[in-house]
Amino acid sequence: MRILSGIQPSGKLHLGNYMGAIKQHIDLQNKGEAFYFIADFHALTTVKEPALLREHVRDVALDYLALGLDPSKATFYRQSDVPEVTELAWLLTTVTPMGLLERCHSYKDKLAKGIPPDHGLFAYPVLMAADILIVDANIVPVGKDQKQHVEVTRDIAVKFNNLYGETFVIPEERILPEAGVVPGLDGQKMSKSYGNDIGIFLEGKALKERVMAIVTDSAPVEAPKDPDANNVFNILRLFATPEETAEWRERFLKGGVKYSEAKKRLITLLDETFGAARERRRQLAEKPGDVEEILRAGSARARGVAAKTLAKARRACGIE
Ligand code: ADP
Ligand code: TRP
Repeated sequence: MRILSGIQPSGKLHLGNYMGAIKQHIDLQNKGEAFYFIADFHALTTVKEPALLREHVRDVALDYLALGLDPSKATFYRQSDVPEVTELAWLLTTVTPMGLLERCHSYKDKLAKGIPPDHGLFAYPVLMAADILIVDANIVPVGKDQKQHVEVTRDIAVKFNNLYGETFVIPEERILPEAGVVPGLDGQKMSKSYGNDIGIFLEGKALKERVMAIVTDSAPVEAPKDPDANNVFNILRLFATPEETAEWRERFLKGGVKYSEAKKRLITLLDETFGAARERRRQLAEKPGDVEEILRAGSARARGVAAKTLAKARRACGIE
């Protein structure tokens, strides 16, 4: 089974990204032949500052490696280091109906957010289809916001196969579990764009400030509290054992717990969960050459696979 997913280098990763995506990516590297890449060409559709893009690419590579992506198990690369992908994207674009792209929610959402509609933003799903089809991926683990893009990929692949003969493997999305939706400081879905996130690699004072900023009500300490309506509890439960979670639930229901006590415990749990990864990240950050080497080896491996698929697709449509 071949697994592929792309990660947009769009800023510091947060607890929501970890529970909703990264954790599953890391687990899946043991379940099949995984390909994970940093989607820097996709990021160009929204990040127009070169220094910032470079920084984000570096950050996301460090984050994934520190959190357990094992380059001996998964092929880890930068999208732009595999030029076969963009060539395939052109072949695919010539069989992609305009209507298919015009229907994409993600494009419409981005326009609604005020992002200028350039052609890259519109053609974004075709490049994504090329990412997926070029490695003959069977499974694409993504958040539910990306489901439609995988459906578009399937439509494009079927269209190409019908027109030119069997060329591409038809991929399936694997939607990462909704149970993993992490609330942010204010109880809304944790998201960079809402400014309510807690970074995975925050520590010490910076982490404390963020956790202390979790919004709580002003009910007196002794008042019984509904744990499910409590932002601290709802984040804490994702990192505590079921037994500890049950204990906190009971204590909140009974009353007499200070929110600050739960916040302090959350900081300890985050330190325990991510302490080793933070240390690994620090070590990796000191050796940028090693990270480059990992990405270079990954792209060499990915190009081996990509070149074969591209050659097949070129032949199929009459470009030799
Ligand atoms: P953001 O909303 O911060 O911009 P992205 O949209 O870049 O995050 O999400 C990247 C991945 O992380 C996606 O697979 C998405 O499903 C997952 N993700 C983001 N926020 C959360 C969250 N609060 N809970 C669970 N998963 C999340
Ligand atoms: N569009 C995806 C996102 O925003 C990132 C991505 C790019 C991707 N190419 C991909 C995901 C291919 C899965 C497969 O999260």
